[in-house]
Amino acid sequence: MKAIILKEVGEAENLILADVPVPSIAENEVLVQVKAISVNPVDAYVRRNKPYLDVIYQTTGAEHHVILGWDVAGVVTETGKNVTKFKAGDDVFGNFKFIGQANAYAEYVAAPEKELVLKPANVSFEAAAGATMAAMTAWQSLVNIGKIKKGDKVLIHGASGGVGHYAVQFAKHFGAYVVGVSSAENRDFVLGLGADEFIDYKTQVFEELVTDADIVHDTVWTEDDKHIERSLKALKPGGTLLSLIVYPEPEFIERALREKNVNVLRVNVTPNENYEENMAYVARLLASGEVKTHISHVFPFEEMYKAHALIQTKNTVGKIIVVP
Ligand SMILES: NC(=O)c1ccc[n+]([C@@H]2O[C@H](COP(=O)([O-])OP(=O)(O)OC[C@H]3O[C@@H](n4cnc5c(N)ncnc54)[C@H](OP(=O)(O)O)[C@@H]3O)[C@@H](O)[C@H]2O)c1
Repeated sequence: MKAIILKEVGEAENLILADVPVPSIAENEVLVQVKAISVNPVDAYVRRNKPYLDVIYQTTGAEHHVILGWDVAGVVTETGKNVTKFKAGDDVFGNFKFIGQANAYAEYVAAPEKELVLKPANVSFEAAAGATMAAMTAWQSLVNIGKIKKGDKVLIHGASGGVGHYAVQFAKHFGAYVVGVSSAENRDFVLGLGADEFIDYKTQVFEELVTDADIVHDTVWTEDDKHIERSLKALKPGGTLLSLIVYPEPEFIERALREKNVNVLRVNVTPNENYEENMAYVARLLASGEVKTHISHVFPFEEMYKAHALIQTKNTVGKIIVVP
Protein backbone atom coordinates (compact mmCIF):
# COMPACT_ATOMS: atom_id res chain seq x y z
CA MET A 1 0.00 0.00 0.00
CA LYS A 2 0.98 3.64 -0.31
CA ALA A 3 1.89 5.59 2.80
CA ILE A 4 3.54 8.88 3.60
CA ILE A 5 6.72 8.21 5.49
CA LEU A 6 8.88 10.70 7.31
CA LYS A 7 12.30 9.93 5.91
CA GLU A 8 14.08 12.12 8.42
CA VAL A 9 13.07 14.38 11.29
CA GLY A 10 12.79 17.96 10.04
CA GLU A 11 10.99 19.94 7.38
CA ALA A 12 7.69 19.12 5.70
CA GLU A 13 9.50 18.08 2.48
CA ASN A 14 10.80 15.06 4.38
CA LEU A 15 7.31 13.56 4.11
CA ILE A 16 7.39 11.36 1.03
CA LEU A 17 5.20 8.79 -0.68
CA ALA A 18 6.40 5.19 -0.27
CA ASP A 19 5.28 1.57 -0.62
CA VAL A 20 4.91 -0.22 2.71
CA PRO A 21 3.17 -3.44 3.81
CA VAL A 22 -0.52 -3.33 4.77
CA PRO A 23 -0.66 -3.46 8.61
CA SER A 24 -1.92 -6.57 10.35
CA ILE A 25 -4.74 -6.19 12.86
CA ALA A 26 -4.94 -7.26 16.48
CA GLU A 27 -7.99 -9.13 17.82
CA ASN A 28 -9.67 -5.90 18.94
CA GLU A 29 -8.82 -3.95 15.79
CA VAL A 30 -10.31 -3.32 12.38
CA LEU A 31 -8.50 -2.71 9.12
CA VAL A 32 -9.70 0.54 7.62
CA GLN A 33 -9.27 1.62 4.03
CA VAL A 34 -8.54 5.28 4.57
CA LYS A 35 -10.58 7.78 2.56
CA ALA A 36 -9.52 10.99 4.29
CA ILE A 37 -6.93 12.09 6.85
CA SER A 38 -6.83 15.25 8.90
CA VAL A 39 -3.65 16.93 10.04
CA ASN A 40 -3.14 18.80 13.31
CA PRO A 41 -0.48 21.13 14.69
CA VAL A 42 0.88 18.24 16.79
CA ASP A 43 1.68 16.31 13.58
CA ALA A 44 4.04 19.07 12.46
CA TYR A 45 5.43 19.44 15.96
CA VAL A 46 6.32 15.75 16.21
CA ARG A 47 7.75 15.75 12.66
CA ARG A 48 10.24 18.43 13.67
CA ASN A 49 11.13 17.25 17.18
CA LYS A 50 13.44 14.29 17.48
CA PRO A 51 12.91 13.71 21.23
CA TYR A 52 9.13 13.41 20.73
CA LEU A 53 9.56 11.26 17.66
CA ASP A 54 11.95 8.99 19.53
CA VAL A 55 9.53 8.55 22.42
CA ILE A 56 6.46 7.92 20.28
CA TYR A 57 8.10 5.70 17.68
CA GLN A 58 10.87 4.33 19.90
CA THR A 59 13.43 5.23 17.28
CA THR A 60 17.06 5.72 18.03
CA GLY A 61 18.80 6.14 14.67
CA ALA A 62 19.43 9.38 12.82
CA GLU A 63 16.71 8.56 10.28
CA HIS A 64 13.08 7.93 11.07
CA HIS A 65 11.15 5.91 8.56
CA VAL A 66 7.92 6.39 10.43
CA ILE A 67 4.33 7.06 9.45
CA LEU A 68 2.74 10.00 11.29
CA GLY A 69 -0.93 10.85 11.84
CA TRP A 70 -3.83 9.99 14.14
CA ASP A 71 -7.07 11.11 12.43
CA VAL A 72 -8.89 9.16 9.72
CA ALA A 73 -12.20 8.41 8.09
CA GLY A 74 -12.60 5.33 5.93
CA VAL A 75 -14.21 1.97 5.30
CA VAL A 76 -13.76 -1.17 7.40
CA THR A 77 -12.36 -3.97 5.23
CA GLU A 78 -11.46 -6.58 7.86
CA THR A 79 -12.29 -7.19 11.52
CA GLY A 80 -10.26 -8.77 14.32
CA LYS A 81 -11.78 -11.84 15.96
CA ASN A 82 -12.94 -10.00 19.09
CA VAL A 83 -14.52 -7.10 17.20
CA THR A 84 -18.26 -6.78 17.78
CA LYS A 85 -19.00 -3.17 16.90
CA PHE A 86 -18.22 -3.12 13.17
CA LYS A 87 -18.40 -5.29 10.07
CA ALA A 88 -16.68 -5.04 6.72
CA GLY A 89 -18.20 -2.23 4.67
CA ASP A 90 -18.95 0.08 7.62
CA ASP A 91 -17.90 3.71 7.21
CA VAL A 92 -16.05 4.88 10.31
CA PHE A 93 -13.99 7.75 11.67
CA GLY A 94 -11.86 8.51 14.70
CA ASN A 95 -8.72 9.75 16.39
CA PHE A 96 -6.85 6.63 17.45
CA LYS A 97 -3.73 5.50 19.33
CA PHE A 98 -2.97 9.10 20.28
CA ILE A 99 -0.19 9.86 21.10
CA GLY A 100 1.29 6.54 20.05
CA GLN A 101 1.92 4.79 16.75
CA ALA A 102 -1.33 5.10 14.80
CA ASN A 103 0.45 5.26 11.40
CA ALA A 104 -2.53 7.09 9.94
CA TYR A 105 -0.90 8.58 6.82
CA ALA A 106 -1.58 5.41 4.89
CA GLU A 107 -4.04 3.72 2.55
CA TYR A 108 -4.86 1.22 5.31
CA VAL A 109 -4.71 1.53 9.09
CA ALA A 110 -5.17 -0.93 11.96
CA ALA A 111 -7.37 0.83 14.52
CA PRO A 112 -8.94 -0.38 17.80
CA GLU A 113 -12.72 -0.66 17.43
CA LYS A 114 -13.18 1.37 20.62
CA GLU A 115 -11.53 4.39 19.03
CA LEU A 116 -13.79 4.54 15.98
CA VAL A 117 -17.45 5.39 15.51
CA LEU A 118 -19.82 5.01 12.58
CA LYS A 119 -19.72 7.83 10.04
CA PRO A 120 -23.19 9.16 9.24
CA ALA A 121 -24.08 8.47 5.60
CA ASN A 122 -24.78 12.14 4.87
CA VAL A 123 -21.38 13.32 6.17
CA SER A 124 -18.43 13.20 3.78
CA PHE A 125 -15.27 11.27 4.64
CA GLU A 126 -13.40 14.59 4.58
CA ALA A 127 -15.78 16.26 7.05
CA ALA A 128 -15.70 13.21 9.32
CA ALA A 129 -11.89 12.99 9.23
CA GLY A 130 -11.78 16.62 10.38
CA ALA A 131 -14.07 15.98 13.33
CA THR A 132 -11.67 13.72 15.19
CA MET A 133 -8.78 15.06 17.29
CA ALA A 134 -9.79 18.71 16.93
CA ALA A 135 -13.43 18.03 17.73
CA MET A 136 -12.62 15.72 20.67
CA THR A 137 -10.23 18.32 22.07
CA ALA A 138 -12.92 21.00 21.99
CA TRP A 139 -15.49 18.58 23.42
CA GLN A 140 -13.36 17.23 26.25
CA SER A 141 -12.24 20.74 27.12
CA LEU A 142 -15.60 22.48 27.17
CA VAL A 143 -17.96 19.65 28.04
CA ASN A 144 -16.08 17.02 30.08
CA ILE A 145 -13.64 19.30 31.88
CA GLY A 146 -15.17 22.79 31.61
CA LYS A 147 -18.73 21.54 32.38
CA ILE A 148 -20.19 24.14 30.03
CA LYS A 149 -23.85 24.97 30.63
CA LYS A 150 -26.62 27.05 29.16
CA GLY A 151 -26.08 30.78 29.61
CA ASP A 152 -22.32 30.54 30.26
CA LYS A 153 -20.22 33.28 28.70
CA VAL A 154 -17.36 31.52 26.95
CA LEU A 155 -14.29 33.17 25.45
CA ILE A 156 -12.75 30.98 22.76
CA HIS A 157 -9.26 31.80 21.54
CA GLY A 158 -8.29 30.58 18.08
CA ALA A 159 -11.98 30.46 17.20
CA SER A 160 -11.32 30.12 13.47
CA GLY A 161 -8.88 27.20 13.84
CA GLY A 162 -9.35 23.45 13.86
CA VAL A 163 -10.16 23.11 17.56
CA GLY A 164 -11.71 26.56 17.90
CA HIS A 165 -14.25 26.25 15.11
CA TYR A 166 -15.68 23.12 16.74
CA ALA A 167 -15.46 24.77 20.19
CA VAL A 168 -17.63 27.69 19.02
CA GLN A 169 -20.23 25.34 17.54
CA PHE A 170 -20.29 23.03 20.59
CA ALA A 171 -20.59 26.00 22.95
CA LYS A 172 -23.56 27.31 20.96
CA HIS A 173 -25.10 23.83 20.98
CA PHE A 174 -25.04 23.92 24.79
CA GLY A 175 -26.63 27.37 24.87
CA ALA A 176 -23.58 29.43 25.79
CA TYR A 177 -22.90 33.06 24.88
CA VAL A 178 -19.73 32.89 22.78
CA VAL A 179 -16.97 35.43 22.26
CA GLY A 180 -14.62 34.23 19.51
CA VAL A 181 -11.05 35.51 19.21
CA SER A 182 -9.07 35.36 15.96
CA SER A 183 -7.57 37.79 13.47
CA ALA A 184 -9.87 40.22 11.66
CA GLU A 185 -9.78 38.35 8.35
CA ASN A 186 -11.65 35.49 10.04
CA ARG A 187 -14.31 37.68 11.68
CA ASP A 188 -17.12 36.71 9.29
CA PHE A 189 -16.21 33.05 9.50
CA VAL A 190 -16.28 33.02 13.32
CA LEU A 191 -19.55 34.97 13.53
CA GLY A 192 -20.93 32.64 10.86
CA LEU A 193 -20.19 29.69 13.15
CA GLY A 194 -22.59 31.25 15.65
CA ALA A 195 -20.29 33.33 17.87
CA ASP A 196 -22.16 36.23 19.49
CA GLU A 197 -19.17 38.56 19.56
CA PHE A 198 -15.80 38.71 17.85
CA ILE A 199 -12.46 40.06 19.07
CA ASP A 200 -9.49 40.63 16.76
CA TYR A 201 -6.42 39.69 18.79
CA LYS A 202 -4.17 41.79 16.57
CA THR A 203 -5.88 45.13 17.22
CA GLN A 204 -7.91 44.58 20.39
CA VAL A 205 -7.07 43.64 23.97
CA PHE A 206 -9.44 40.81 24.81
CA GLU A 207 -9.06 41.07 28.61
CA GLU A 208 -10.15 44.71 28.48
CA LEU A 209 -13.26 43.80 26.48
CA VAL A 210 -14.24 40.70 28.47
CA THR A 211 -13.83 40.51 32.25
CA ASP A 212 -16.84 38.36 33.13
CA ALA A 213 -16.37 35.08 31.27
CA ASP A 214 -17.46 31.85 32.92
CA ILE A 215 -15.03 29.87 30.78
CA VAL A 216 -11.93 30.83 28.80
CA HIS A 217 -10.71 28.21 26.31
CA ASP A 218 -7.04 29.06 25.76
CA THR A 219 -5.15 27.49 22.85
CA VAL A 220 -2.57 30.26 22.45
CA TRP A 221 1.07 30.43 23.41
CA THR A 222 2.92 33.71 23.06
CA GLU A 223 6.65 34.50 23.22
CA ASP A 224 6.28 36.21 26.60
CA ASP A 225 4.45 33.13 27.97
CA LYS A 226 1.87 35.49 29.48
CA HIS A 227 -1.21 34.53 27.48
CA ILE A 228 -2.82 32.46 30.24
CA GLU A 229 -2.11 35.30 32.68
CA ARG A 230 -4.13 37.54 30.37
CA SER A 231 -6.86 34.92 30.00
CA LEU A 232 -7.23 34.84 33.79
CA LYS A 233 -8.22 38.52 33.69
CA ALA A 234 -11.08 37.78 31.30
CA LEU A 235 -12.75 35.50 33.87
CA LYS A 236 -15.26 36.36 36.53
CA PRO A 237 -14.80 34.96 40.05
CA GLY A 238 -15.78 31.32 40.08
CA GLY A 239 -14.87 30.91 36.40
CA THR A 240 -12.76 28.25 34.70
CA LEU A 241 -9.61 28.67 32.65
CA LEU A 242 -9.03 25.75 30.29
CA SER A 243 -5.38 25.67 29.25
CA LEU A 244 -4.72 23.62 26.14
CA ILE A 245 -1.24 24.74 25.26
CA VAL A 246 0.50 25.88 28.44
CA TYR A 247 1.06 23.54 31.40
CA PRO A 248 0.22 25.98 34.22
CA GLU A 249 2.61 26.01 37.18
CA PRO A 250 1.12 24.87 40.53
CA GLU A 251 1.81 28.37 41.93
CA PHE A 252 -0.21 29.89 39.08
CA ILE A 253 -3.10 27.50 39.73
CA GLU A 254 -3.03 28.17 43.49
CA ARG A 255 -2.84 31.95 43.05
CA ALA A 256 -5.75 31.97 40.58
CA LEU A 257 -7.87 30.07 43.08
CA ARG A 258 -6.79 32.15 46.08
CA GLU A 259 -6.96 35.61 44.55
CA LYS A 260 -9.82 35.21 42.11
CA ASN A 261 -11.56 31.94 42.94
CA VAL A 262 -10.81 30.77 39.39
CA ASN A 263 -10.14 27.13 38.52
CA VAL A 264 -7.24 26.58 36.15
CA LEU A 265 -7.44 23.21 34.41
CA ARG A 266 -5.00 21.68 31.93
CA VAL A 267 -6.61 19.87 28.98
CA ASN A 268 -4.97 16.94 27.17
CA VAL A 269 -7.10 15.23 24.56
CA THR A 270 -7.26 11.54 25.35
CA PRO A 271 -9.31 8.49 24.37
CA ASN A 272 -10.91 8.35 27.83
CA GLU A 273 -13.89 6.28 28.98
CA ASN A 274 -16.30 8.80 27.43
CA TYR A 275 -14.62 8.82 24.03
CA GLU A 276 -17.06 6.57 22.15
CA GLU A 277 -20.11 8.26 23.63
CA ASN A 278 -18.69 11.73 22.92
CA MET A 279 -17.70 10.83 19.35
CA ALA A 280 -21.15 9.34 18.74
CA TYR A 281 -22.68 12.62 19.97
CA VAL A 282 -20.43 14.55 17.57
CA ALA A 283 -21.46 12.20 14.76
CA ARG A 284 -25.12 13.02 15.48
CA LEU A 285 -24.39 16.76 15.44
CA LEU A 286 -22.62 16.36 12.10
CA ALA A 287 -25.47 14.27 10.71
CA SER A 288 -28.09 16.83 11.75
CA GLY A 289 -26.02 19.65 10.25
CA GLU A 290 -25.95 21.54 13.56
CA VAL A 291 -22.17 21.21 13.58
CA LYS A 292 -20.14 21.41 10.39
CA THR A 293 -16.51 20.76 9.62
CA HIS A 294 -15.16 23.70 7.70
CA ILE A 295 -12.51 22.43 5.31
CA SER A 296 -10.14 25.09 4.06
CA HIS A 297 -7.84 22.81 2.02
CA VAL A 298 -7.93 19.29 0.59
CA PHE A 299 -4.61 17.93 -0.66
CA PRO A 300 -3.86 14.74 -2.60
CA PHE A 301 -1.77 12.20 -0.71
CA GLU A 302 1.56 13.05 -2.33
CA GLU A 303 1.12 16.67 -1.22
CA MET A 304 1.06 15.87 2.49
CA TYR A 305 4.07 18.15 2.83
CA LYS A 306 1.89 21.09 1.73
CA ALA A 307 -0.66 20.24 4.42
CA HIS A 308 2.16 20.22 6.99
CA ALA A 309 3.61 23.49 5.77
CA LEU A 310 0.18 25.08 6.21
CA ILE A 311 -0.72 23.57 9.59
CA GLN A 312 2.53 24.76 11.14
CA THR A 313 1.68 28.40 10.33
CA LYS A 314 -0.86 28.24 13.21
CA ASN A 315 -3.24 30.25 11.07
CA THR A 316 -5.38 27.45 9.75
CA VAL A 317 -9.04 28.16 9.08
CA GLY A 318 -11.07 25.10 10.07
CA LYS A 319 -9.45 21.84 8.99
CA ILE A 320 -6.87 20.70 6.44
CA ILE A 321 -7.62 17.33 4.87
CA VAL A 322 -5.45 14.94 2.87
CA VAL A 323 -6.95 12.26 0.62
CA PRO A 324 -5.00 9.05 -0.12
N1 LIG B 1 -4.06 20.12 24.77
C1 LIG B 1 -4.56 19.40 23.80
O1 LIG B 1 -5.03 18.26 24.01
C2 LIG B 1 -4.57 19.93 22.40
C3 LIG B 1 -5.24 19.21 21.40
C4 LIG B 1 -5.30 19.75 20.12
C5 LIG B 1 -4.65 20.96 19.85
N2 LIG B 1 -3.96 21.58 20.84
C6 LIG B 1 -3.25 22.83 20.56
O2 LIG B 1 -4.22 23.85 20.43
C7 LIG B 1 -3.76 24.81 19.50
C8 LIG B 1 -4.83 25.05 18.45
O3 LIG B 1 -4.98 23.87 17.67
P1 LIG B 1 -5.74 23.95 16.28
O4 LIG B 1 -5.75 22.61 15.68
O5 LIG B 1 -7.01 24.67 16.47
O6 LIG B 1 -4.74 24.92 15.48
P2 LIG B 1 -5.02 25.76 14.17
O7 LIG B 1 -6.04 25.05 13.36
O8 LIG B 1 -3.71 26.07 13.57
O9 LIG B 1 -5.71 27.11 14.68
C9 LIG B 1 -4.98 28.10 15.33
C10 LIG B 1 -5.90 29.27 15.55
O10 LIG B 1 -5.32 30.17 16.50
C11 LIG B 1 -5.61 31.49 16.10
N3 LIG B 1 -4.65 32.37 16.75
C12 LIG B 1 -3.34 32.54 16.46
N4 LIG B 1 -2.80 33.42 17.32
C13 LIG B 1 -3.80 33.81 18.16
C14 LIG B 1 -3.88 34.72 19.26
N5 LIG B 1 -2.81 35.41 19.69
N6 LIG B 1 -5.06 34.87 19.89
C15 LIG B 1 -6.16 34.18 19.49
N7 LIG B 1 -6.15 33.32 18.44
C16 LIG B 1 -4.97 33.13 17.80
C17 LIG B 1 -5.58 31.46 14.60
O11 LIG B 1 -6.36 32.52 14.09
P3 LIG B 1 -5.85 33.45 12.87
O12 LIG B 1 -5.55 32.53 11.74
O13 LIG B 1 -7.00 34.36 12.62
O14 LIG B 1 -4.60 34.15 13.38
C18 LIG B 1 -6.22 30.10 14.33
O15 LIG B 1 -7.62 30.23 14.30
C19 LIG B 1 -2.45 24.27 18.91
O16 LIG B 1 -1.37 24.88 19.56
C20 LIG B 1 -2.51 22.81 19.24
O17 LIG B 1 -1.23 22.24 19.36
C21 LIG B 1 -3.93 21.11 22.09
